[in-house]
Amino acid sequence: MWTPESWKRKAIKQLPNYDTKKLSDVEQRILNYPSLVALKEVEELKQELKRVAIGKAFILQGGDCAETFREFNESSIIDTFNVLIKMAMVLTFVGDKDIVRIGRFAGQFAKPRSSDFEVQGDVKLPSYRGDMINDIEFEPGKREPQPKRILQAYFQSAATLNLLRANNIIPSYFLTEILQSIHDYALTVEDKNVRDELINKSLKGRNIVSNDETNSDGIRMKGRGVPFYTSHEALNLYYEQSLLRADQKERSIYCSSAHYLWVGDRTRFTESAHIEFVSGIANPIGIKCGPSAYVDEIISLIKKVNPDNEVGKMSLIIRMGKDMIREKLPELIKRIVNSNLNVIWICDPMHGNTKTHDNGLKTRYLDDIKGEIQAFFEICKQQNCYPGGIHLEMTGKHVTECIGGSDTYDLSEKYETSCDPRLNGKQSSELAFFVCQLLKQA
Ligand code: PEP
Ligand code: CO
Repeated sequence: MWTPESWKRKAIKQLPNYDTKKLSDVEQRILNYPSLVALKEVEELKQELKRVAIGKAFILQGGDCAETFREFNESSIIDTFNVLIKMAMVLTFVGDKDIVRIGRFAGQFAKPRSSDFEVQGDVKLPSYRGDMINDIEFEPGKREPQPKRILQAYFQSAATLNLLRANNIIPSYFLTEILQSIHDYALTVEDKNVRDELINKSLKGRNIVSNDETNSDGIRMKGRGVPFYTSHEALNLYYEQSLLRADQKERSIYCSSAHYLWVGDRTRFTESAHIEFVSGIANPIGIKCGPSAYVDEIISLIKKVNPDNEVGKMSLIIRMGKDMIREKLPELIKRIVNSNLNVIWICDPMHGNTKTHDNGLKTRYLDDIKGEIQAFFEICKQQNCYPGGIHLEMTGKHVTECIGGSDTYDLSEKYETSCDPRLNGKQSSELAFFVCQLLKQA
């Protein structure tokens, strides 16, 4: 039977060994802290995901690979959020789809690692596991897991959410800029009807923005601003467990750390503690599927996490790499569809396409990323299922971590990530226009 602690009796991977007394102090404090997200918002997201499941909307999920304490400031949060909004608007205007915006932020502080230790010269220290767990600096002591970092992650998540809730009006100048980029794109479209329609739409949009005197600050959508949701990998289960909250009628338990949680590729297996934990909560859940995913195992995980086969509850986030996806995904879709399991298919074109550059830095090529998304759309079409969304690692800052797009640079110019390479704002926006073409054909 599931209980908030039943995961502790399962196979635990990727969690640190904490000092139990210090950990328990932190857990007790967070248990009494406010929820980070409102349970009714989680329900709202579930309604939106039902629309995705039937092909009426598309998920745009994106943000940092890892949030950090070091880079916690207003502009980096707002810049990333604005790029997400821009992409969503492009996908709505050009791709003709309603977009469900889900950030990888306000909780994305713990990282799974392929190796428990890092060796530099003759020094061997525990691997960095995200700012919620230990310090990235390669110094003895700094890599020890410290429970008090969990508190800092909680407060940083709360402040991030506060900022986004307060600033979720799209400013007029920014709207105009987005509409201009849609207009510029329209001019490159060959089909005259499509081109004219897009130009009209962007001009109409610009008129609304410039004539709307009652709303000179910008556009506030649907009463509470631009709806957005938060998500992260449910990795540090001590943190996640402390944020479990029952709804008023005590009929369901939610994890109030984020609206949407996913289980990573390294922690999703039969008997895994992470799968056990998410199987008891009412939030929508994603499971990452890399090239090593066994179809039978994935099917049994889906049945465990979504026993009632609720529409929109379960998504599979495919991250196989641009070549492996063609080999592995068709069979996975076929078997899951034949088993009548309700699943939203999401493409993460980042994690299967990481390469090491000649200079030793980890990078990703925009062309590989596009290649995997294109393969994903093609396979979904062949298998007659709906491509429900994309999952990206991106930032609003002008970093030089991925290669490709209109700018050329040296990776080392502004390589700032604490973990995986992210698309910068320009690359993200280029990718949005690319995805529009695929959405139109889907
Ligand atoms: C991630 O999303 O940052 C991640 C670690 O992904 P995966 O579990 O797919 O490797
Ligand atoms: Co990553």
